[in-house]
Amino acid sequence: MSVVAIVGAQWGDEGKGKIVDIYTEFAEVVVRFAGGPNAGHTLVVGDDKLVVRLLPSGILRPATLCVLGQGMVVDPDVLLGEIDELGRRGHVELGSRLALSDRAHLILPYHVLVDTLRETTAPAGRAIGTTKKGIGPAYEDKARRNGVRAGDLRHPARLRERVDAALAGWAPTIKSLGGSVPSAEALASALLASAPRLVPLLRDTSALVSESIKAGKSVMLEGAQGTLLDLDHGTYPFVTSSSAVAGGASVGAGIGPNRINTVIGITKAYTTRVGAGPFPTELGNAEGDHLREVGAEFGSVTGRPRRTGWLDLPALRYAARVNGFDGLALTKLDVLTGLSTLKVCVAYDTPEGRVNDLPLDLLDRPELMKPVYVELEGWQEKLESARVLDELPSAARAYIRFLEKETGAPVYLVSVGPRRSETIMLHNPFVGRAAAP
Ligand code: GDP
Ligand code: IMO
Ligand code: MG
Repeated sequence: MSVVAIVGAQWGDEGKGKIVDIYTEFAEVVVRFAGGPNAGHTLVVGDDKLVVRLLPSGILRPATLCVLGQGMVVDPDVLLGEIDELGRRGHVELGSRLALSDRAHLILPYHVLVDTLRETTAPAGRAIGTTKKGIGPAYEDKARRNGVRAGDLRHPARLRERVDAALAGWAPTIKSLGGSVPSAEALASALLASAPRLVPLLRDTSALVSESIKAGKSVMLEGAQGTLLDLDHGTYPFVTSSSAVAGGASVGAGIGPNRINTVIGITKAYTTRVGAGPFPTELGNAEGDHLREVGAEFGSVTGRPRRTGWLDLPALRYAARVNGFDGLALTKLDVLTGLSTLKVCVAYDTPEGRVNDLPLDLLDRPELMKPVYVELEGWQEKLESARVLDELPSAARAYIRFLEKETGAPVYLVSVGPRRSETIMLHNPFVGRAAAP
């Protein structure tokens, strides 16, 4: 048995969906521990593609218990829509292997409204570029102790009181942003109409996960977003509102940190970011276009084109530090095929000299932090059919070795395409040895 946390090492969209799906073949339980429908985790099985937003990425493994942990914010309509979509795809048995924390907070229409109004009325340069899914306002309600929790769906009178209180809290903001305040009665009755489908899923998920661990089961803790979008450790204020780092796995799943055996960070072989905020290795040229087009870098949730850039090793070292990575999963290596020279940022030149760590306090002064690049040889061969390292061109193997040396973290897995089979598994923490993909 093993408990493994997987988190994004960059600004999200690193390929968490694919990697969690791969490793979940070896896990009995998978827990999403943070975030909400701002996430879009892509699963590709054969020719079928599914993007999950709230459901854990183990959902296509029929024997896996899928848990939405208490660190999440859950939009009931999005959740029911996802369950219906899976039902249409033939996964009708879903309810029996789905558990929703009764302590997860609900995203309600006024959160989505405030998020959208704020983004659309923000002065130039101040919009975060959020997904407009209500994430920030829902976590604000949680922090100011005025939220509605999934467990409130069991108690209609309490639910109505909570909705009234939350709406009273938001009404002045909604009015000041030019919006109209929704009716509490309509909101509460819509929620009560959904309750018969949601209440049967409610569990004390902390107890459930702890019991699974005690029973010797293998558990995957699935992060959302990425380290540089983390509320505490990211490029604040251009971040999300939850804990996206490995520390958040313990809080969001409701287990002690010492129960987690392995922490894996996922990084692309380059960097992307969607939304506003600093991105020191961003490219605005033909190489950036190559990464966007070959890597299909368009948001899974919003369809927005993702910003693209070279791999940023100081940022990756920083992510390794704040998460305590045991190993890395390297994704989208295939996307680099065709670039004759690859640049990798290894340090930053700052007024204090050359630094190897990400100078977070300078991120809003890009003129004071100049990326230092080394050039590595590119390759022209397609990588999708490689199943072992030796089948990769030597330049691709050198790229992986360089990454390991510079970050001090071993690469556990290399992904060379979106499909399950397009994977080179070097280490599987659930079985403690290399496994065939
Ligand atoms: P997540 O949010 O971290 O789960 O990542 P997304 O699903 O938002 O974005 C990753 C995208 O890259 C998806 O379209 C995946 O199907 C795709 N993908 C994952 N791994 C690979 C890979 O190794 N190569 C290529 N070409 N695509 C990949
Ligand atoms: P996955 O789990 C990439 C970004 C938004 C915005 C900022 C705040 O698929 O990797 P929010 O709606 O959370 O208040 O937006 O965070 N963002 C993501 N970017 N992948 C994600 O999730 C993201 N979730 C939020 O674009 O910049
Ligand atoms: Mg995504």
